[in-house]
Amino acid sequence: MQAMDWLWIIHPFLAVTLIYPLVGVVARLGLQTRQRRVQKAKLPPATGRDHSDWGQWLAAAVVVVVLIALAVVIASKALGSSERGATALIALLLAWLGTLSALVALLRVQGAGLRLSFSLITWLGLLTLGAQPEVFRLSDNPLEPAFWQSHYWGGVLICGLMLFNLAARPEILRQLRWRRLHIAANALAALLFISQGLSGTRDLLEIPLHWQQPFLNQCNWSERTCPSQSR
Ligand code: HEM
Ligand code: HEM
Repeated sequence: MQAMDWLWIIHPFLAVTLIYPLVGVVARLGLQTRQRRVQKAKLPPATGRDHSDWGQWLAAAVVVVVLIALAVVIASKALGSSERGATALIALLLAWLGTLSALVALLRVQGAGLRLSFSLITWLGLLTLGAQPEVFRLSDNPLEPAFWQSHYWGGVLICGLMLFNLAARPEILRQLRWRRLHIAANALAALLFISQGLSGTRDLLEIPLHWQQPFLNQCNWSERTCPSQSR
């Protein structure tokens, strides 16, 4: 493995060792919060607060782990070719830093308007970075089956749902209507986390090691044929 290959596995590594264990903890605490409230189960009074605190870490970590994937994909391809000028690369770096700053701001601000604005800015930042030609997307057409198998679009949707959780935290805590919306949104997020595990491992299997790339570029992927290697 070369340095570039190690960079490419940072995102899957963090997803497996950080995000998925956190999903388990947060989902379990969420269910206990509901059991405590609805069924009056004898559980510690801090269950709801713990769920919300761990949930905040989960939501922020998902966005950061996706930002890392986007940075690796864009930088490794853009820096290796001469198609992008220095100005375009600086603009992309600023967009990446701006998205991260908007996430940090979202974790700090209190007012509903500010929370809504910063969550939207963070999500738009992710969409802008994801729209770059370096980022591989199976399809951009929701009418094609490939769109629904795309690791990119599943990831962007999870980020949207996690940002919604972060932005609406006080409302979820206080209002029944928002709690119901929260449960529906996170039932969908749980399914998406599972499908991301599948599409992510599939992509990992399909991405060759850096030194194998030039040879594999000569292959015809639709015909599934490669030129025979001369010794
Ligand atoms: C795996 C993802 C998640 C699942 C399955 C989940 C599930 C739940 C459930 C079942 C409840 C109880 C609702 C009720 O009492 O009727 C709840 C409450 C809540 N959730 Fe989540 N949630 C998730 C992620 C998050 C995240 C990421 C945040 C914050 C950033 C969050 C913040 C809250 C808050 C503030 C409450 C209200 C707690 C209380 O009543 O004390 N959740 N969640
Ligand atoms: C927490 C759930 C996950 C989310 C939200 C997520 C999201 C994303 C996004 C948005 C990208 C950039 C677009 C792309 O290149 O396709 C990406 C890249 C990638 N993901 Fe994930 N992913 C998750 C979990 C996983 C898992 C579990 C694996 C494999 C074990 C994985 C493997 C990859 C690979 C190989 C890439 C290519 C870029 C890179 O390695 O940095 N992902 N992911």
